[in-house]
Amino acid sequence: MIKKAVIPAAGYGTRFLPVTKALPKEMLPIIDRPTLEYIVNEAIDSGITDILLVVSGNKNSIVDYFDRNLELEYKLLERKKDYEYGLVTNIAVGANLYFIRQKEQLGLGHAVLQGETFVGQDDFAVLLGDDVYVNDDYPATKQMIDAYDKVKSSILGTIEVSLEDTKKYGICDPIKQSSDQLKVLKSVVEKPEPKNAPSRSAIGGRYILTSTIFKYLRSQSKGKGNEIQLTDAILRLMNEEKVYSFDVDARRYDVGKKIDYIEAIIDFGLKRDDLKDDIQALINKKSK
Ligand code: G1P
Repeated sequence: MIKKAVIPAAGYGTRFLPVTKALPKEMLPIIDRPTLEYIVNEAIDSGITDILLVVSGNKNSIVDYFDRNLELEYKLLERKKDYEYGLVTNIAVGANLYFIRQKEQLGLGHAVLQGETFVGQDDFAVLLGDDVYVNDDYPATKQMIDAYDKVKSSILGTIEVSLEDTKKYGICDPIKQSSDQLKVLKSVVEKPEPKNAPSRSAIGGRYILTSTIFKYLRSQSKGKGNEIQLTDAILRLMNEEKVYSFDVDARRYDVGKKIDYIEAIIDFGLKRDDLKDDIQALINKKSK
């Protein structure tokens, strides 16, 4: 059973400067909810009950957002704003949220390492905040947990990218090329040059990891970008345990990329009864 998740939310957000000087990128809203809330909800909808958010120094707004705001709740109740009261109190219901500060930004592997005490001996999920997946019937993390239940090994959630884009992702190298959704890997490489990419199967920000990973993260030296890379520790884990890739069946938005972020806002709006007609009318007007 996978019941714990680690969500790193401590990056600099350089792709969204200058706003991320003061606002954590995870708090950038998709309409009226922070991106991070969609990630947290995916975890909860997948059966995760305990979530560790790894945050950095200037990210207090994340902690505040997931905390209650009793003064605001009181004011809303006093003014009989029941709908708004429901909005502010129904956030991340169903899971325990924990926070830890990553004191130095040494890379994704180092961020995940901050979860060692929280995770203990359990196997766990990792969800990255730049990747928002939409599959209302079968959340991406739930798909991976179901795959894990069959193999009881680490699994990297993958998406197919263009050859040109392989340099932006961790790229998987399966033992055998096949159309199976779940494949045993022989290797994984962080952000290779396209000419060296072993495949176009990219890690899309979702992982199920066995707790053995911490042994490798603790001793992991810096890799690509002079950072402690999770991918490098997973490669070493492969010497000890099987690691699989799993092709996730969901629509993915790379919300760290401006055009995908804008598309996510439009698509999420088109699914909302209070907004869909106005957004459609706006699109029609703009495309004339
Ligand atoms: C990280 C990982 C990379 C993965 C990507 C998915 O890179 O290091 O392996 O493919 O997330 O979004 P980042 O985008 O943080 O540079």
